[in-house]
Amino acid sequence: MTVTTIEKLGQHVGQTVTLQGWVYSRTSKGKLHFVQMRDGSGVVQCVLFKNNVGDELFEAVSRAGQESSLVLTGLVKAEPRAPGGFEIDVSSGAVLQLAAEGYPITPKEHGIDFLLEHRHLWLRSRRPWAILRIRHTIMMALRNFFDSRGFVCVDSPIFTPNACEGTSTLFEVPYFDSTAYLTQSGQLYAEAAALAFGKVYTFGPTFRAEKSKTRRHLTEFWMLEPEMAYAGLDDVMQLAEDMLCHVVDVVLKTRRTELAVLERDLSKLEAIKPPFPRMTYDEACAVLAANPESKHVAGDDFGAPDETIISNQFDRPVMVHRYPAAIKAFYMKRDPADPTKCLSVDVLGSEGVGEIIGGSQREDDLELLLSRIRHEQLPEDFFQWYLDLRRYGSVPHAGFGLGLERTVAWVCGVEHVREVIPFPRTIYRIHP
Ligand code: 4AD
Ligand code: MG
Repeated sequence: MTVTTIEKLGQHVGQTVTLQGWVYSRTSKGKLHFVQMRDGSGVVQCVLFKNNVGDELFEAVSRAGQESSLVLTGLVKAEPRAPGGFEIDVSSGAVLQLAAEGYPITPKEHGIDFLLEHRHLWLRSRRPWAILRIRHTIMMALRNFFDSRGFVCVDSPIFTPNACEGTSTLFEVPYFDSTAYLTQSGQLYAEAAALAFGKVYTFGPTFRAEKSKTRRHLTEFWMLEPEMAYAGLDDVMQLAEDMLCHVVDVVLKTRRTELAVLERDLSKLEAIKPPFPRMTYDEACAVLAANPESKHVAGDDFGAPDETIISNQFDRPVMVHRYPAAIKAFYMKRDPADPTKCLSVDVLGSEGVGEIIGGSQREDDLELLLSRIRHEQLPEDFFQWYLDLRRYGSVPHAGFGLGLERTVAWVCGVEHVREVIPFPRTIYRIHP
């Protein structure tokens, strides 16, 4: 007997197959059970007629509530009226476990706190199913994009001796007789690797002790960080544009079912085409100054409402470049045309979602970099290895960090990043 999965049923019409899964829901009348079975790859209606399946299976299924596990064998029929387009005419099978009564997540509406508290079970529901399959596809598309362009994947460490993105959001952990910090970004290590391999990326979890309770902040999130030797700000912007277009394209081509579950407006994704608009920080300030709803003061960083105003002008992501050096990280290279600005870029997603990528050309001059480290009062000793990269064969180099959760939320049209990571970590939640 062929064991298959629900997403592959189209290859088996007219054949008898076995499916292994769980009861998503069941309705029964007389000698018929209609089981909506889920198996992780999808949901399909299975019809059990008592005269065909025998008394034992029929009785077992009549006691099988939501999330009972079962294996069913039957004929695959094309059924245009059924969700998914197929139906199983069951001939045999077995119930593995009758789920305990009172499965907490019923088809009725639950509050978000209740759902997050039951995340280990909520993962089985349709919405998380769709979102996390799209997350998987985005991760795969990102890796394929960089691999096919000759980038080497290097893994940056999670225990680090110093800060990368400011000292206010560091998680401290005891490390034998000293202290370590959970990494905020793999960038400094990616820079070392770029000078060894040319083009690299690092992709993994990063940590920030964010006290802000917003829809865009997690304390543990995933970042993909490419870094290129012999590259500048324009190369980074081009790379980000190509990458985002590729990701959206792959999701549109391969995740239609999931996007439909999320009721995603596909026209918004279909609009994500090159070229993306590019504007300077000063130009973005002018847009805000002309908008009576903005409270932005020129020279300051943009708040979430400012980013929304800027990005709402466009139907695709916008790249804002050359921010004031004073509000950006110590490692960003100054703009030779205006040293008060740095060669940085933030990519703001469309539909007002705000920053999804931050990147820059890096300061490659030893003395300038050292003076920035001193100015920021960063521990100079810890940065000696990083300064070595400017002592030995320094070259122009640049890269960016893409926040995976913000990107997945943007593609899925999901409001809050806590829904797009399997087990979200925020200031108020590390359970389950
Ligand atoms: O802009 P950020 O802080 O840039 C860096 O960390 C650089 N070192 C990256 C680099 O150039 N290699 O963070 C990069 C991205 C942000 O644009 C955002 O998408 C995401 O990481 N991000 C967060 N996502 C979820 N929760 C948080 N608390 C985040 N903080 C940053
Ligand atoms: Mg940033």
